[in-house]
Amino acid sequence: MVSLRVAQELVSRWDRMQAGYIAARERRFSAMFDVLEACLPKKFTALDLGCGPGSLSVRLLQRFPQAQCVAVDYDPVLLSLGQRRYGTRGKRLHWVEADLRTSDWARGLGRAGRFDAVLSTTALHWLYPKVLRRVYQEAYRVLAPGGVLLNGDTASLEKAVPHLNAISGKALDLEQKAAQRRLRSDSWDAWWKAAGRVSDFQPLFEERRRRYGSESHHGHEPPADTHLRYLRAAGFSETAVLWREFNNALLVAYKE
Ligand SMILES: C[S@@+](CC[C@H](N)C(=O)[O-])C[C@H]1O[C@@H](n2cnc3c(N)ncnc32)[C@H](O)[C@@H]1O
Repeated sequence: MVSLRVAQELVSRWDRMQAGYIAARERRFSAMFDVLEACLPKKFTALDLGCGPGSLSVRLLQRFPQAQCVAVDYDPVLLSLGQRRYGTRGKRLHWVEADLRTSDWARGLGRAGRFDAVLSTTALHWLYPKVLRRVYQEAYRVLAPGGVLLNGDTASLEKAVPHLNAISGKALDLEQKAAQRRLRSDSWDAWWKAAGRVSDFQPLFEERRRRYGSESHHGHEPPADTHLRYLRAAGFSETAVLWREFNNALLVAYKE
């Protein structure tokens, strides 16, 4: 098992790497929590889809001391890293290994209709549109009435404004470059190279390759209005973008 010190260092490098790509990452987390505080009681249960090493889940549990969170991912390296770094946070954090590309990923959660919030950050753009639509349907199914889905991810403006979309994309790139310079953050590849040097991870890296292969996680980034359409088709009665910084958006859907 990887040492706690190595896990701490890699998770903090992960957070810096992610903040290099998404300069407003922490602001987006707190916008998500403001939305949750505005609509849920203090005690609630959330599901974090594509949790990675748990950045969103642990921040949520810190902000809401009575909440519980189920963190789902399919990457054996990131799951093991998160588990080592954060443990179960006093049995409030439950790690689940599941592949969102399968149709039965939610079955193992055993809480159909009982989650108060389904959350995700920088993860659902890995999914092809057909799978994304199915994930939204499952998210609707696992939510209790009155529950909300919050997806913070890259989502451009609607197709009808191509010039503004290009400007917004460029502005986000400029912000990203400045953040990477300021934070001296790793690139995605450099982070994975550093993690790959940890000998304890070797069997997990092999398993990771088997699971994800060479599948690219870029290029499946529908504009926000497409997300909102998928969410309505999944059954959500109200959907909207509640926060945005250029092409970085927080999509929110409400289940009546
Ligand atoms: C860029 S990371 C974001 C992690 C975390 N949410 C964060 O904000 O730091 C994308 C995550 O989505 C996960 N992911 C991608 N495809 C998945 C799938 N099919 N099933 C489960 N998780 C998936 C990846 O393993 C990875 O942990």
